[in-house]
Amino acid sequence: MRLTVVGGGYVGLVSGACFSHIGHEVLVVEKVKEKVKMLREGKSPIYEPGLEDLIKEGISKGTLHFTDDLKEGVKFSDVIFICVGTPPRADGSADLSHVEEVVRTVARNMDSYKVIVEKSTVPVGTHRLIERVVRLYLRDDIPFEVASNPEFLREGFAVKDFLEPFRIVVGVNSEKAKRIFEEIYRPITQKGYPLLITDPATAEIIKYASNAFLATKISFINMVADLCEKVGGDVEAVAKGMGYDPRIGDKFLKAGVGYGGSCLPKDVKAFIKTAKDFGLDFGLLEEVEKINASRVQKLVEKLERILLVLSGKEITVWGLTFKPGTDDVREAPSLRVIPELLKRGAKVKAYDPKGIDNFRSIFKEGHDLRFFTDKYEALKGSHALVILTEWDEFKEADLERVRELLEAPVIVDGRNIFDPEEIRNLGFEYECMGRCHDRENYLSLQRKC
Ligand SMILES: NC(=O)c1ccc[n+]([C@@H]2O[C@H](COP(=O)([O-])OP(=O)(O)OC[C@H]3O[C@@H](n4cnc5c(N)ncnc54)[C@H](O)[C@@H]3O)[C@@H](O)[C@H]2O)c1
Repeated sequence: MRLTVVGGGYVGLVSGACFSHIGHEVLVVEKVKEKVKMLREGKSPIYEPGLEDLIKEGISKGTLHFTDDLKEGVKFSDVIFICVGTPPRADGSADLSHVEEVVRTVARNMDSYKVIVEKSTVPVGTHRLIERVVRLYLRDDIPFEVASNPEFLREGFAVKDFLEPFRIVVGVNSEKAKRIFEEIYRPITQKGYPLLITDPATAEIIKYASNAFLATKISFINMVADLCEKVGGDVEAVAKGMGYDPRIGDKFLKAGVGYGGSCLPKDVKAFIKTAKDFGLDFGLLEEVEKINASRVQKLVEKLERILLVLSGKEITVWGLTFKPGTDDVREAPSLRVIPELLKRGAKVKAYDPKGIDNFRSIFKEGHDLRFFTDKYEALKGSHALVILTEWDEFKEADLERVRELLEAPVIVDGRNIFDPEEIRNLGFEYECMGRCHDRENYLSLQRKC
């Protein structure tokens, strides 16, 4: 089938390249000309494992094309997937201006039946707004449908998640659109991956409810981590003990410096806002946000407790991306931890295997903030190492070398990547999340007992 994908970011590129891989002919429309130029040369403008190979494969098979002209995209196929960004506005609601711009252009230029597909994450009810916009700009009485096909891929695993999904969710209003999606996804569903077909509003809710639930699990375990620190428990073992129960599951129970990324923070905000718009108070999710926001402060306080004074001290930060396996730094804890360290007068030396360029486009390098391309080089003379992303190369670091390079053997680990006992035996002062209990508190509690 011929498919048009609008937006050449994480979702659009992965969708486009994967659709081409499973046998469709795809035109990806990306408005940034430099990205289109790179893509036509077979280069991916984003880092995502396996993506560039699929782009090259699609180009050489002749089934994957790129353009910056949306009109061309409208002519190319009857099914138009919208994969543009929907960033949060100041009040937490999703900014639909990119979506509206695409829908308007599609409506102005269509001259035959189209299915306009929301793949971007959009608030509940957006399919109706899109229908209205299409009607406003449509020149003739051309039939069209708006469908919802939310995307669940995880950055770092995006290609695998697209081709071997936990589920595909599609919201449609007609039998015709249902059959179109069954055909599009047949190469995946015939391998046994589930396709849930529902109405558009339900599909929109499934996406937000899923992300809000995942964020809730993370904030829940982070509160348990706080309690562990007070009473001397180990949150990693608690999570393991909970996770054996299939009703709970062992995923997204990792205590740490909190969730980030381009999806969870904004989707939680937008879900709260949607509930509010319909007169519902989703206080549970407000608490989830509050707990998440407090993680950064907790981590910086741990560091300050050890060093006493941060002002004038060099601190090395390993990990700028919101998680490993991506170059994405959107809403990453590093964006809040580093300014907090700078505010307290520290000088920060940062290293990340993939995220430096994106981080640098937000925070410029200067006297107090320097970026390094070698993780050991970044440690020389620093008073502490702070870990914010659980990249494998950090887990496998030569810790003897780390200790020798640091001015003081201090590690504050926001991702619990080391075994506290082992690392302390190597001579480190080591603080992590929910495992290195507040001994004072613990002992006083024991005395009370
Ligand atoms: N990144 C993820 O992990 C993920 C997962 C699931 C869902 N989503 C959702 O998918 C949507 C896209 O996310 P993303 O991470 O791919 O965003 P992104 O910012 O990486 O990509 C969006 C792309 O769309 C392009 N664009 C914007 N307006 C355009 C237009 N009028 N015509 C052509 N191109 C245009 C931008 O230049 C950009 O390259 C968002 O709603 C997001 O919430 C993202």
